[in-house]
Amino acid sequence: MLVKLKIFRFDPEKDEKPYYQTYEVEADPMDRLLDCLNRIRWEQDPTLSFRMSCGHGVCGSDGMRINGVCGLACQKLVRSFQEEILIEPLPVFKVVKDLVVDLGPFFEKYHSIKPYLITKTPPSDTERRQSTDEHEQFEEAIRCILCACCTASCPVNQNKETMDYVGPAALVRAFRYLFDSRDEGSEERLSLLDHKEMAWGCQTLWKCTEVCPKEIPVTREIGQIKKRIYETKNK
Ligand code: SF4
Ligand code: SF4
Ligand code: FES
Repeated sequence: MLVKLKIFRFDPEKDEKPYYQTYEVEADPMDRLLDCLNRIRWEQDPTLSFRMSCGHGVCGSDGMRINGVCGLACQKLVRSFQEEILIEPLPVFKVVKDLVVDLGPFFEKYHSIKPYLITKTPPSDTERRQSTDEHEQFEEAIRCILCACCTASCPVNQNKETMDYVGPAALVRAFRYLFDSRDEGSEERLSLLDHKEMAWGCQTLWKCTEVCPKEIPVTREIGQIKKRIYETKNK
């Protein structure tokens, strides 16, 4: 089949403003959008910039806006699209070139939630053990590949007045540690998360959950953080 892609182009070092360029690629219906982008870069236009690595929904590097919805190019089959496909960079972030955005602020926010196990007691002779039931409490959150699709789609992060909100991806990671039975930092975590730019910044609009390529119940997990903050303060 012939696939038509209309792609956002912008090189801040050369272009005065962004523009769109249309490419046509011969593809198998089972090819992914990422295959088409690679073919364009290899066979038609080596100046087209985008990130990719694993090609299989694991590294999280090829997040982009596809027909207005954020997702991974390696997870979209071309047969799911009938007409011309519009490809744009993830919103919210500054464009470095074409589909590549600056994820520095995204990772700064991610690091602000202390994305590591906090322990105060020494480990046993072997390891910090955990039952299957305890592990299941945060199992879904571990699937996060930090693709930033949720944060880019969140209306709170998109609004200039509330863009300091830490965003859903960081909160999924905060959930992962808050609900880990081995973590001993819940007091400092809850006090950090009890803020209008942290858990309370979420307005429960569900956009993050709709786009998450790993099907993580993002909004529900943020809701569980809020519930835990509320219950701890009202004990
Ligand atoms: S929660 Fe989902 S959408 Fe958000 S960064 Fe993780 S994998 Fe991506
Ligand atoms: S549920 Fe919360 S984090 Fe998710 S998109 Fe809505 S406001 Fe943003
Ligand atoms: S290329 Fe790694 S997730 Fe798509």
